[in-house]
Amino acid sequence: MEIKKVGVLGCGLMGSGIAQVAAAAGNDVIVLEQEQKFLDKGFAGIENSLGRMTMSQSARSCITADQKTATQARLKGTTNMQDLADCDIVIEAIIENVPEKRKTYMQLDAIVKKDAIFATNTSSICVAELMGATQRPERFIGLHFFNPVPMMKLVEVVRTIATGDEVFETAVAFGTKLGKVPVRTVDKPGFIVNRLLVPYLLDAIRAYEEGVGSIADIDESMKLGCGYPMGPFTLLDFVGLDTTYYITHVMYDEFKERRFAAPPLLKRLVLAGWYGRKTGKGFYDYTDPKNPVPGKFV
Ligand code: CAA
Ligand code: NAD
Repeated sequence: MEIKKVGVLGCGLMGSGIAQVAAAAGNDVIVLEQEQKFLDKGFAGIENSLGRMTMSQSARSCITADQKTATQARLKGTTNMQDLADCDIVIEAIIENVPEKRKTYMQLDAIVKKDAIFATNTSSICVAELMGATQRPERFIGLHFFNPVPMMKLVEVVRTIATGDEVFETAVAFGTKLGKVPVRTVDKPGFIVNRLLVPYLLDAIRAYEEGVGSIADIDESMKLGCGYPMGPFTLLDFVGLDTTYYITHVMYDEFKERRFAAPPLLKRLVLAGWYGRKTGKGFYDYTDPKNPVPGKFV
């Protein structure tokens, strides 16, 4: 099956990045959002990302001005789900919430052509639970990209108990076409990366709550001691504390193990609306984005 037209659901942190890389790879892309303002915000992020890439010196990310223009010409936004009817694949990247995703898939299933593939970018939700909201279980997969999508090479291709072989291999080939390195995995909580990364991030919060170090020192320690490009608190703010909080509930429900439980401090930051970079404040205050100021919560 050849993929030419790509639908993306959600134009937030991940949806905008997925739309960008799909368009950069030559696909016609249509992005669905709830409201025009979210499309405008996501497309501004794509403009910023492509702009950085035209300025980049590194081979990893440099593009020409013509490539930027061509990518943007293949990108369209809409708030009408009917516009996704003839997509060959629809990649969903909406809020990490099972009822919202299931409701959306039920609507999509009635509109999008029957042989289209549905791919969820969920971080942690059981893909089969979303598949169950559709009449196309064998054409449903997980396609888990990493933040920021234009920069991170990995894509996890997740097969459920019902995914068809041809669909799975089509998805793997599509990941390669997008310039990613696809890894094959199965429908287990957190797949590969988040199964390992989420406990690490949550343990960083617990270590801070226990007083082993300041937010800045814990971040600096993991960068200088382990060579991580971002410390855990910088990464948490980058991923989004809201998304992280949703992920902890999904993974704790599956494992019932403390290491997947949301630390009290994470819950309180989310309840305060401090989601990290996306709201200007999380573990750090981003009033001056170039100089984030670490918070002091304990
Ligand atoms: N778009 C385009 N270019 C970008 C970019 C973007 N979004 N972000 C960074 N870049 C470019 C910069 O322009 C810069 O280019 P040059 O080297 O040519 O100047 C280069 O990438 C490096 O960027 P920075 O100098 O800003 O900083 P950096 O060297 O730290 O790289 C980073 C930024 C690639 C994001 C790096 O910090 C990093 O890899 N961080 C870790 C990200 C990570 O762990 N992601 C996974 C999160 S978990 C997840 O995604 C799964 C889930 O379900 C939650
Ligand atoms: P986000 O909050 O940045 O974006 C979510 C977007 O979905 C918002 O713009 C919202 O308006 C839109 N949306 C919500 N309901 C919708 C609907 N019914 N129809 C259309 N649009 C709708 O979230 P995000 O960080 O981009 O995460 C999206 C998904 O990607 C989640 O499942 C998350 O677990 C996953 N993910 C996130 C990351 C990360 O680092 N943030 C990494 C990999 C995967």
